[in-house]
Amino acid sequence: MKTVLVTGGLGYIGSHTVVELIESGLEVVIVDNLSNSRLRILDQITQISEKKVKFYNLNIVIKKDFDLVFKENEIDAVIHFAAYKSVGESMQKVLEYYENNIGSLISVLSKMEEYKVNNLIFSSSCTVYGQPETLPVNEDSPVQEAESVYGTTKIMCEKIIKDFINQKHTQKAMLLRYFNPVGAHESGLIGEITTGVPNYLFPFITQTVFGQREELKIFGSDYNTPDGTAVRDYIHVVDLAKAHVSSLKRIEESNSKIETINVGTGKGYSVMEVVKMFEKVLDKPINYKLVDRREGDIEKIYAVCDKANELLKWKAEHNLEDMVRSALKWENNLSNGDVKL
Ligand code: UD1
Repeated sequence: MKTVLVTGGLGYIGSHTVVELIESGLEVVIVDNLSNSRLRILDQITQISEKKVKFYNLNIVIKKDFDLVFKENEIDAVIHFAAYKSVGESMQKVLEYYENNIGSLISVLSKMEEYKVNNLIFSSSCTVYGQPETLPVNEDSPVQEAESVYGTTKIMCEKIIKDFINQKHTQKAMLLRYFNPVGAHESGLIGEITTGVPNYLFPFITQTVFGQREELKIFGSDYNTPDGTAVRDYIHVVDLAKAHVSSLKRIEESNSKIETINVGTGKGYSVMEVVKMFEKVLDKPINYKLVDRREGDIEKIYAVCDKANELLKWKAEHNLEDMVRSALKWENNLSNGDVKL
């Protein structure tokens, strides 16, 4: 394996993955249409890795544009991140979400077929499990009907990949089901970019810390959890990025046509525990208020990561404190103007 194509490579998880791929000695080609990312991230990747990366600014849904990437490069594997990811927005922009998330995958698979590229790593989500009946969730836990269009696109993409792979002789795929990626690269140069009001917990907290928001609203304090707030399996984005490097090794060596793997830490933290960790690291209180549950939220979810540990020979190394510290460093750099977007 020499050259890896990363779609959505300037996005949050994509950019961290590109850095780890370069670090492991692979050649990387990024395709991104900047729909939810910034061109500056490319410079910041170069600054971290001291290496220029080949970049195409195009929409992969348009196959004739995407074709150029395969014509000009000898691709050995594709890591496909490029997709819309906002749950709330997906309910407003139904067709855009289906067109972009399903269309981009179809483009990737058709080009892989046409150019005989054999390895695909797909960015899926624990959202496919809904609220699992038993915890922790392993990969055999049932996939449940999604409550959002975004969730439905992930379930549909997994199914499309399975149908495609089962009918092909040479192609292989790995479906990585991410739990909740948080934090940022230790350099503080890349991280999650949020436009408007953040949906996710970590950016909401860091923006509250740096004065962009007045207070954090904790959605729900009457869940059936030890402190009443909802529980998630937060994973440091750099650990998640490294899981992709391990997945490439695995897909190259393994005889399996398709593998589905949970990528989390295996440990659940409540919203209140996260807030307390921020308060500990900052040594000051966070301004928060307990409010009603958010519609569509699940009570608790965390992963069994045995399969990732065994097959990928990978394990999450960062703890909650590392996640909090790195998220704060990134937000601090953003608000000081040290990182320009
Ligand atoms: C979100 C997505 C989910 C996706 C997952 C991982 C939704 C409804 N779901 O879920 O599809 O797979 O990220 O990327 O967006 N919280 C607050 N106050 C806030 C923000 C969040 O209390 O201002 C709470 C939430 O209620 C939740 C926890 O923090 O209990 C984590 O929220 P969030 O970061 O949005 O992730 P998920 O809800 O797990």
